[in-house]
Amino acid sequence: MCGIVAYIGSKKAQELLLEGLKRLEYRGYDSAGIATLSKSNSTTGDVASLKVVKAVGRVANLEDKLEDMGGLNGSVGLCHTRWATHGGVTEFNAHPHTDDRFGIALVHNGIIENYAALKTYLESKGHVFKSQTDTEVLAMLIGELYSPAEGIDLEAAVQAALREVTGAYAICVICEKEPDVLVVARKGSPLSVGVGNGEFIVASDPSAIVSHTSQAFHLDDYNVVKITRQGFKTSTIHNVAVTPKVVQLELDLEEIELGTFSHFMQKEIFEQPKALKNTFRGRINVQDSKVVLGGVSNFDRDLVKARRIILTGQGTALHAARIGRYLFEDLAKVTSHDEYASEFRYRNPIIEENSIVIAVSQSGETADTLAGLREAKDRGALSLGVINVVGSTISRETDAGVYLRVGPEIGVASTKAFVGQVAVLTLLSIYLGRKRFMSSEHCRELLTGLEQIPDKIQQVLEYDDLIKKVTAKYIEKENWLFLGRGYNYPTALEGALKLKEISYIHAEGMPAAEMKHGPIALITEGMPAVFIANKGPQYEKVISNIQEVRARGGHIIAVATEGDEHIKRYAEDVLYVPDVPECLSPMVTVIPLQLMAYHAAVLRGHDVDKPRNLAKSVTVE
Ligand code: AGP
Ligand code: GLU
Repeated sequence: MCGIVAYIGSKKAQELLLEGLKRLEYRGYDSAGIATLSKSNSTTGDVASLKVVKAVGRVANLEDKLEDMGGLNGSVGLCHTRWATHGGVTEFNAHPHTDDRFGIALVHNGIIENYAALKTYLESKGHVFKSQTDTEVLAMLIGELYSPAEGIDLEAAVQAALREVTGAYAICVICEKEPDVLVVARKGSPLSVGVGNGEFIVASDPSAIVSHTSQAFHLDDYNVVKITRQGFKTSTIHNVAVTPKVVQLELDLEEIELGTFSHFMQKEIFEQPKALKNTFRGRINVQDSKVVLGGVSNFDRDLVKARRIILTGQGTALHAARIGRYLFEDLAKVTSHDEYASEFRYRNPIIEENSIVIAVSQSGETADTLAGLREAKDRGALSLGVINVVGSTISRETDAGVYLRVGPEIGVASTKAFVGQVAVLTLLSIYLGRKRFMSSEHCRELLTGLEQIPDKIQQVLEYDDLIKKVTAKYIEKENWLFLGRGYNYPTALEGALKLKEISYIHAEGMPAAEMKHGPIALITEGMPAVFIANKGPQYEKVISNIQEVRARGGHIIAVATEGDEHIKRYAEDVLYVPDVPECLSPMVTVIPLQLMAYHAAVLRGHDVDKPRNLAKSVTVE
């Protein structure tokens, strides 16, 4: 949700921290703050002083403020970009938070669920709070427990405090009294430690680490790491030693830089052909009618026996899951459902024998999806992950899975991850179908079609200028409809979500047939209605639904199959996509919708990559 960066080494911390923070800003961006420990000599030896600077708004505001005041010294520090959960967006509520006794500063990602009870306790001990956040309670609690005279140093105080809290956290902590120590910990929110030469850089995700070192380890839940310039020591919150595995980070700097594009979302839309080729690499064998999925092959017997598949996720990932449902029923002939993970988790779901749950998530950290997955696992389902971020929590907690391999997605509005999720679910359903009833001919046909999808997407991208023009025509309209049927009903939902998220235009997505059961009342003269009207089994029915909207004054923007001249009679504007088999069509029909949303946001002057109120990954339920 938010971004954390911390540093200990010999360089000036401020520059390094801010550079990392800017890379993480997409995770959350309502306010930002930094703290460093700088040492000065006094007659009694080295004295460290803690300096904290905060600003409301983007990291750039924090930078300006630091510049005005001459910057912060010190080679130990931490910083944070916030996505508020408790307390408004104010400077007081921005992180780092401090205790009121020992010069302890802390940044936190997540939620301390029992903060109210802890706050009452701490107030009774005389602590005075300055913010409304849950996080400040944790800073105070660490200060309350800190007692070097009794052997409770910063590391021990952090461990003790974390034994008292419930909720989710990734935290970094420093203290004036221990100026050469950085303590970090996690439960539920991601945190990685980059291991350099005499220096360590800690961050919520590796994009803030790779420009300094490619060696890192990812913390597990309940891990606490004490870091000095000489090395690190990892334990649990109960002080049981843990040995983390240092791995090579597989992240290319180019992948996280904008290059010639104006926004990450635009870059990610345009790199979809390349991203999908990566998804497919080594997994499609047309000649032998075979899908190769090393990540699930150990579970072939369970997959073949599957009686029910539950696909779960949130937001865009749920839309992909919804397409997955159609794919699994159609191609693998297994009863399937898609579920909001948040609803599935709390409605006492029935999991029968031979059920498989598939968690779909770009980040692999979405708290709702994780909770749904855990519930299904507890009830005996085999769990698979369709995840982008390698080593993320969900990918580690699932029994098996298939990575998207679309590269880091930085734009808050998910685009290439959606197409990657649909592609992987297609591969999985063909994999399973082939092991059950699918003929080798049918499989070969599908795989041939699938292999061509990256090129077909490229063809749609060539229409970018036209898509921009069409979007501009309707840019003043405040209410839009997105309608589709069958495989493209979830695509319609995705089109509406994209437009809402970044252009703040109200949009509703729904099955085209559902519109006449109520939402038709919304249609007024000139209201834009985007229909996914590609040539498919329900084409004629979609045309009827288009007529219903036209009859009430709606303006039709049709996403149609190349060569379909007939559609021009019914639509004010037509955006063509190449002809592909119906079950593969969402991967191409969604492209014009992504581009429309992108252009709408730019035309309206919004910050495409950092839409208001959103965060890239939502690590609270
Ligand atoms: C997509 O554009 C969204 N911002 C959001 O709906 C997202 O898809 C959802 O929060 C799930 O995220 P995940 O894929 O990382 O689990
Ligand atoms: N719950 C904390 C707050 O509201 C942390 C939010 C975050 O993860 O950014 O300040």
